[in-house]
Amino acid sequence: RMPILEQCYNLMDFEAVAKRVMKKTAWAYYSSGADDEITMRENHSAFHKIWFRPKVLVDVENVDMSTTMLGTKVSMPFYVTATALGKLGNPEGEVVLTRGAKKHNVIQMIPTLASCSFDEIMDAAEGDQVQWLQLYVNKNRDITKRIIEHAEKRGCKGLFITVDAPQLGRREKDMRSKFSDVGSNVQSTGGDSVDRSQGAARAISSFIDPSLSWKDIPWFKSVTKMPILLKGVQRVEDVIRAVAAGVDGVVLSNHGGRQLDTSRSGIEILAETMPELRRLGLENKIEIYIDGGIRRATDILKALCLGAKGVGIGRPFLYAMSAYGLPGVDRAMQLLKDEMEMNMRLIGCSSVDQLTPELVDVRSLHAH
Ligand code: FNR
Repeated sequence: RMPILEQCYNLMDFEAVAKRVMKKTAWAYYSSGADDEITMRENHSAFHKIWFRPKVLVDVENVDMSTTMLGTKVSMPFYVTATALGKLGNPEGEVVLTRGAKKHNVIQMIPTLASCSFDEIMDAAEGDQVQWLQLYVNKNRDITKRIIEHAEKRGCKGLFITVDAPQLGRREKDMRSKFSDVGSNVQSTGGDSVDRSQGAARAISSFIDPSLSWKDIPWFKSVTKMPILLKGVQRVEDVIRAVAAGVDGVVLSNHGGRQLDTSRSGIEILAETMPELRRLGLENKIEIYIDGGIRRATDILKALCLGAKGVGIGRPFLYAMSAYGLPGVDRAMQLLKDEMEMNMRLIGCSSVDQLTPELVDVRSLHAH
């Protein structure tokens, strides 16, 4: 028997329920990581190598979890990151996440490969709700230009170019389950037809341009006024290069462990990046986000202590949406909020600007 929603006490609980109730192909697509899934597991376990150094006797009666991301005020320092094919898990698709994000005043990043159309997702937003666009760059730049211009016209507030996927990773669980129902905004580059024999991911991604390079960044800047961020940066040298290229931010991410296996976790890259940016006086030139394996508010707090502006969360909201629809997404976000308030009190911070590196001990992270 399926547990009732009130029996989900943390984000991992949604995963356990989703595994039981989701269609096998959908579960395979959402849950898989690349190759041996070492990076996927590391994403969460890396947080266990960071320890808190809480302050005591701080007045934490009132805790303010709000912050700003790319100029937008949000209630908590996380956003719903872009994950393709929302209708595999829920017949309504990504708009369920849009409604959850609205209720909790957080931002949703819309995937290029959403099951709902971009306009359906924008239309599902209410009032001044803010959304970002995740972009896979098409070999045919006219198509990409039209997508960017349309997003800007519709009021999107950030363009996140995915840079860790010149070719989609091998997700073997997904490849084993032959994929038939594409149900997404499949783009082509012209003639080639969609090959469905290699799992969902490969079926929908053949248009992505593997020749994308640093040389293309000025072109993106010339076609949009939206802030431009690179999603999937994995080393401090590339963060510095991103600053030099004039982009507005980066997401330190390995794509939820779905691309290069045995690449490092976002939190580990963050710990490498921030001291170097501070040394170079670049820490305020760019907004740094991380994603991957964030399941607890303590994970979010560690990322903020180490200098992230915010974090992206992917699978947990997909699982909550697949198992319980909007009430599931709502509860998942509420659980995070409750965990966050409590843990900010316990580490002795009443606002996010008080989250600083001295509150964490990263010696175990560096002790390889
Ligand atoms: C993703 N991710 C992703 N990223 C991206 O840039 N474009 C995309 O289309 C997708 N699609 C996608 C589908 C699914 C099912 C998953 C799980 C992930 C990666 C995503 O944005 C993010 O980097 C990770 O999901 C973060 O890790 P967690 O929170 O899922 O552990």
